[in-house]
Amino acid sequence: MDRTLVICKPDAVERKLVGEIVSRLERKGLRIVAMELRQIDEATAGRHYEEHQGKAFYGDLVAFITRSPAVLMVVEGPEDTYKVVRTLMGVTNPRDAAPGTIRGDLAIELTENLVHGSDSPESAKREIDIFFPQFVTL
Ligand code: RTP
Ligand code: MG
Repeated sequence: MDRTLVICKPDAVERKLVGEIVSRLERKGLRIVAMELRQIDEATAGRHYEEHQGKAFYGDLVAFITRSPAVLMVVEGPEDTYKVVRTLMGVTNPRDAAPGTIRGDLAIELTENLVHGSDSPESAKREIDIFFPQFVTL
């Protein structure tokens, strides 16, 4: 089994779209193996988004992801789970995201794009270790 990290971002919780997002993951055949509602602190956001440090949008990104509670999940599938999740999410900018995807159907602003999914197997392991350090990744 192969695991990845998914975040229902603060806008998803505020807009009461967590059930919709989780439902789409489950209907696809993925399994939630860890889940917690938690407000991400600034230090953790900095670790999570370290690849973006120094970029123009970094401040807005950290302010957004820390502004209210998010739902953090470890999601499991048979293979290439990060890729399956990213396909369900749609591309980063919701304006460009295809209909049928989470971002394509439910979002319109670049920052407020509802969901995060790890972008590689290495990112998945790194991010699961950040948010669920007690969770053993195989
Ligand atoms: P995420 O990490 O949040 O799942 O999103 P992603 O992989 O699709 O996109 P990424 O390139 O990692 O960017 C992280 C978040 O930063 C915001 N962003 N703003 N103003 C900009 O040019 C810009 N580029 C990216 C987006 O909200 C994106 O989700
Ligand atoms: Mg990313």
